[in-house]
Amino acid sequence: MDKRKVILDCDPGHDDAFAIMLAVQHLDVLGVTTVGGNSPLANVTRNALKVLEVIGHADDVPVYAGHSCPMVAPLVTAPMFHGESGLDGPVVPEPTHVAQAEHAVDFICRTVMEQDDLTLIATGPLTNIAAAINREPRIVERVREVCIMGGSVTYGNWTPTAEFNIYVDPEAAARVFESGLHVKMCGLNLTRQAAFDEGTVERFRSLGTRAGDFAADLTEFFIGAGRSVNDTHVGCMHDACAVAWLVDPTLIRAVPMHIDVELAGTLTRGMTVCDYRHLCGPDPAVDLYRDPLHAPRGKRPNAEAALELDHDRYVDLVCSTLEAYD
Ligand code: BDR
Ligand code: CA
Repeated sequence: MDKRKVILDCDPGHDDAFAIMLAVQHLDVLGVTTVGGNSPLANVTRNALKVLEVIGHADDVPVYAGHSCPMVAPLVTAPMFHGESGLDGPVVPEPTHVAQAEHAVDFICRTVMEQDDLTLIATGPLTNIAAAINREPRIVERVREVCIMGGSVTYGNWTPTAEFNIYVDPEAAARVFESGLHVKMCGLNLTRQAAFDEGTVERFRSLGTRAGDFAADLTEFFIGAGRSVNDTHVGCMHDACAVAWLVDPTLIRAVPMHIDVELAGTLTRGMTVCDYRHLCGPDPAVDLYRDPLHAPRGKRPNAEAALELDHDRYVDLVCSTLEAYD
């Protein structure tokens, strides 16, 4: 079967690194594009190149650097979770490859206009994707769908109501959700189910390969960061969920939903406001997810929101992916 064609837009980032490793193994990655987010643009671009070198694909997967900062707001980064480099933990040599000369937004627009049936995956702030829609509005009709890690049906992480990727560039996120593109949203409510623990680290380590050790080091660092910031004992590999959803749709249960992004709220800027009134039957406790498309209330869905992850099969997929490298 032909692999699905994708562009992966990301800000590596420990969990972005897992997203790259899954995508390159299972999908036809036409390019990795980078955006300022977890760390400044130069760092995340270097990190994308490092990941591709570790898995032996830096020659066949080109990297394109995109926007260094959000459309309106100043850039916010996350060194407390990803370290100063954006990918602290594993000891990896400086990459020998460099990014392409073409800007990420030009690459996205050009490739979408040239290639049929392309899917966008976005695991960082949505700055590049929104800029691409503004630059070439016809891409909305051409892209099959955009699968994002971002937002939440429930609570946030950067603020009580906002998840990091949407919080960093809410104007870009609003542009994407209102664009007419079909959005698959892997929000925090879902990705918090993607927890890796010390046992997962051991599984990676026991592979005895470069990719396995790299994954183990990434996860150990991420667990440690979570422990010092939030007193947790696991690392949630948020971004790889967005790729896993495309690789094996049976891993995730999702429902259609209308999603808008709050831009003005003093407490809620960056919140993904999820309208799930249409999912509520006469007795929401009993009837919550029944026949969502034909229910009468709420705005017409512009997205699919992921709700439940099959955790064990997700971890198995990551392990078998790592095993396939080397
Ligand atoms: C998201 O924020 C980033 O720190 C992660 O890479 C992920 O994309 C989770 O909120
Ligand atoms: Ca990310």
